Amino acid sequence: MNPLRLIRGKLRERRAARQRAALRAGYTGAPPEIACADWAQSLSDPTAFYLRAVEFFDRSLPEEFHAHRNYFTQHGRGFGEDAFHTQWFLLFREFRPQSFLEIGVFRGQSLSLAALCARHFQLACLVQGISPFSAAGDAVSKYARDVDYYADTLENFSHFKLPAPALLKAYSTDPTAAETIAARPWDIIYIDGNHDYEIARADWRLCARHIRPGGLIVLDDSGLATKFRPPAFATGGHPGPSRLAEEIDRREFAEILQVGHNRVFQKIAR
Ligand SMILES: C[S@@+](CC[C@H](N)C(=O)[O-])C[C@H]1O[C@@H](n2cnc3c(N)ncnc32)[C@H](O)[C@@H]1O
Repeated sequence: MNPLRLIRGKLRERRAARQRAALRAGYTGAPPEIACADWAQSLSDPTAFYLRAVEFFDRSLPEEFHAHRNYFTQHGRGFGEDAFHTQWFLLFREFRPQSFLEIGVFRGQSLSLAALCARHFQLACLVQGISPFSAAGDAVSKYARDVDYYADTLENFSHFKLPAPALLKAYSTDPTAAETIAARPWDIIYIDGNHDYEIARADWRLCARHIRPGGLIVLDDSGLATKFRPPAFATGGHPGPSRLAEEIDRREFAEILQVGHNRVFQKIAR
C-alpha cells in the first residue's frame, strides 16, 4: 500500500479512538433510554441522535451485546459501528420480528446480532442470509480472499451458541436469491450487499415487493445526502445506496429511523 495512505489511515484511526474515548469519559447522569417517540429526532438531527445511540451502547445495552461487538471488532471479523448494535436492539425490541433477511453477509456480525436480539427478546425468528460467501466486492469494497466465509459465519454463530441461520450462497441478483426472497412476506430485510447503485436498486425493488405491510427495510451506507455529520469514528455511507435512498417512493415507504449511515424504511400498510 502507498505509505502516505497508510500513515493517513493510522492518523485517522488514532483520532477516531481519541474521540470515542473522550465520549466515554464524559457521560453524566443515569444510563439513557431511547423510546420509540425519540426516533423522530434521528431524522431531524441525525448527528445528535447518533451520539445518543453511541451512549446507549456504552451505558444501557446488556453485556452480551458488548461481548458480541467486541468479538467482531477483533481479527477483521466485521465492520459496522457500535451504534448499530443499539439500532438493532431498538428495532427488535419495538417490532418483535418473526423473520429477518440480510442481503450481503460478510462474516456474520449483523446476522448473528439479529439472532442474538431474537434470543434476548425471546422471539421465534427465522434468520436468513443471502450472500456469495466469497471475496466478491464492488466499486467501493474489497474483501480478503483467504477466508472461508460460509464456514466462518457458522462458526461465529456457534461461538455465541446461537442456532444456525439459514444461508443461501448466491448473489442477490441470482434466480435462487429471488426465489428465497419471494418465499414469504418478510418482517425485516437488511440490504448490505453490493453497494453499486444499479445492484442496490435491484435489491431494493425486489425486497420492496416482499416486505410485509408494516415491515421494515434497513438500507446500509445510505446517509451521504442526509444531515448526518459523522464523528471521526463513523462514516456517512457510499454514493450508490445514498442515491437510492433519495429515490424511494415516500407514498409506499415512510422513513422512521436513521442511525448514522443506516436508514430504516417502513412499508406503509394500506
Ligand atoms: C459490507 S459487507 C456486509 C457486512 C454485513 N453487514 C455483516 O455484518 O456481515 C457486504 C457483503 O456483501 C457481499 N456481496 C457482494 N455482492 C453481493 C451480491 N450481489 N449479493 C449479495 N451479497 C453480496 C460481499 O461479498 C460482502 O460479504
